[in-house]
Amino acid sequence: MILLKKVSHLREHLVRLRQEGKKIGFVPTMGALHKGHAALVQQANEEVDCTVCSIFVNPAQFNDPSDLAHYPRMPERDVQLLVKIGCDILFLPEQEEIYPPGQTFEKNYELGHLDQTMEGAHRPGHFQGVARVMERLLNIVEPHRLYMGEKDFQQCAVVQFLLQQMNSQTELVRCMTVREADGLALSSRNLLLSEEERHIAPGIYQVLRHARKNYPSHPPQEIEKEAMRQLTEAGFAPEYFQIVDGHTLVPVSDRKKTRFAVACTAARLGRVRLIDNLVLSK
Ligand code: PAJ
Repeated sequence: MILLKKVSHLREHLVRLRQEGKKIGFVPTMGALHKGHAALVQQANEEVDCTVCSIFVNPAQFNDPSDLAHYPRMPERDVQLLVKIGCDILFLPEQEEIYPPGQTFEKNYELGHLDQTMEGAHRPGHFQGVARVMERLLNIVEPHRLYMGEKDFQQCAVVQFLLQQMNSQTELVRCMTVREADGLALSSRNLLLSEEERHIAPGIYQVLRHARKNYPSHPPQEIEKEAMRQLTEAGFAPEYFQIVDGHTLVPVSDRKKTRFAVACTAARLGRVRLIDNLVLSK
C-alpha cells in the first residue's frame, strides 16, 4: 500500500493511473476503521483497478466540539488493517492539506429538505460540513466510483445530490450495513460505549426489526411512536425515529403510495450517539 499525505502527491499518482486507463475507486473515512469500512474497501477492490481510502477527521462536520474531541483516532492500527485487506492507496492528509489556510471552502450548499430532516435537523451544520469535505475530496481524487455505506443513509442521499450539483461523472455505490452478530451496526463510536451500554446498544436494531414486522399492518405514525417508547424503555434517549421515502426522505404518510420506505433513527446511550436504519419495503 502507498501512503500519501500531500494532495499534490496523490494527484500526480492518480493522473498516471488514469493515463494508463485504470479505474479508480474511493472510500472516504474518518478512521478508527472496522469491518464496515473494510467491506467498502473490499467491494472496491473487486470492482476497480485501484482503491483509494482516505482518513480525515473532518472538523467541519462536527456540530458538537466534545464529539470531535472524543472521536477515536488510531492511525497505526488503521494502516495495518488497510494493508491486510489490500487497499492500494491511503490518503492521510493533515488539516492544512484539505483546508489550506487563506483559501475559503465555506459556502452554503442548498440541500433543501435533505438538510432539514432527521440528522440535518438534529445536527445543525453537519451536512454542510460533509458536503464541504466531500466536494474537496472528490475534486482531489476524481474517482470513477465512490463507495459509501447505507449505515449513513441520509449521508448517501446528500452525497448523491452533491454529485448531481457538481455535474460529476462519479458513480455512487451504496454498500450494505455491516452488523455485529447481535445486530449492532458497526460504528467507530461503538468503541466509546461502556460495557453496560454495549449490552443495551443492539436494542436499536431490535426496535427497527419490530417496526419492519409491523409496517405492513400498522400506520407509520403509530409505529414511530411505539419505537420511540421502546427505545426509551430499553435505556436509550431517542432523538428521532422516522419512516421516510428512501429516495426523497419525506415522511411516509400513506404506506400504499410509497414503494421504497426506510426507518431511520438516532438515539443516545450515555454520551454516545448512535444512528441506524432499516429498509421496510422496496
Ligand atoms: P465514517 O463514519 O468513518 O464512515 C466512512 C464510510 O463507512 C461511510 O460511507 C459510512 O457510511 C461507512 N460505514 C460506517 N459504518 C458502516 C457499517 N457498519 N457498514 C457499512 N458501511 C459503514 O461517514 C463518514 O466517515 C464521513 O462523514 C465522511 C463520508 C468520511 C466525510 O467526512
